[in-house]
Amino acid sequence: MSAAIEVRRHPGGCGAEVLGVDLRDLDDATMAAIRAAYAEHGVIFFRDQKLSEDDHIAFAKRWGEIDVNKFFPHIEGYREIAKVSKEKAQTTNIGGGWHTDHSYDEIPAMGSILVARVLPAKGGDTLFANMYAAYDALDDETKAEIADLKAVHSNAHVFGSKAYYSNPERTEFARDEAVSQAVHPVVITHPLSGRKSLYVNPGFVLRFDGQSREESQTLLYKLFAHAMKPEFTSRFQWRPGSIAFWDNRASWHFALNDYQGEERLMHRITVAGCALN
Ligand code: OGA
Ligand code: MN
Repeated sequence: MSAAIEVRRHPGGCGAEVLGVDLRDLDDATMAAIRAAYAEHGVIFFRDQKLSEDDHIAFAKRWGEIDVNKFFPHIEGYREIAKVSKEKAQTTNIGGGWHTDHSYDEIPAMGSILVARVLPAKGGDTLFANMYAAYDALDDETKAEIADLKAVHSNAHVFGSKAYYSNPERTEFARDEAVSQAVHPVVITHPLSGRKSLYVNPGFVLRFDGQSREESQTLLYKLFAHAMKPEFTSRFQWRPGSIAFWDNRASWHFALNDYQGEERLMHRITVAGCALN
């Protein structure tokens, strides 16, 4: 396959669609073009792909090591592939709030490759928010205020035994021995693009390092409210064969839960990242 791919910016404020590729068959030049799009846009979308589980793993391995999620169930026979599902009778969903994956790890995952397997007839879209654009649009005073701050990220309130996923519908979570906490800069220099990116998210950040939750609240919520403004966000509508590959260091995402009574099943592989600064 030649490197004649097309990268089309999503009409929303985050992400781009990469057209003209078959992810089962990528030469080095095409990979380089996809890498550039990934670094620039924070999330890239593909349509009409036909990846088997093995193809999904092979594509992920072209980006790095696979970071196996400690909480999600994996699909049968493939511990690398997390099952992100909502059953018909289930009322809660995974990822139903703004967050970025694995920010509670000391070395947060680079990104997640989500492949649609079973979709509801309507609904179940995913929202994405652009943390490069959110950072760039902050006023100078706020940029100065957060320049040297760090934030405490945790997953105990999400995946711990007393967490909101740990209800009778979601017995696979609640693994207290696997909960973790990490401190990362509020503004990171993105390892691939060299651009500044806002690295706090509502799902996992508790507070600023050295401050209580109360002390952190005003500025933290101001940053959250800013970053989720419509101009920085996109809404991705899944179709059979669709894939979203997001960069956890440059975007947030939010799985909408608006298809009650229907099943939705996605396969996720998370690619390992690096320390952030
Ligand atoms: C995830 C996630 C979003 C979705 O897999 O990390 O948040 O739309 N999924 O399923
Ligand atoms: Mn997620």
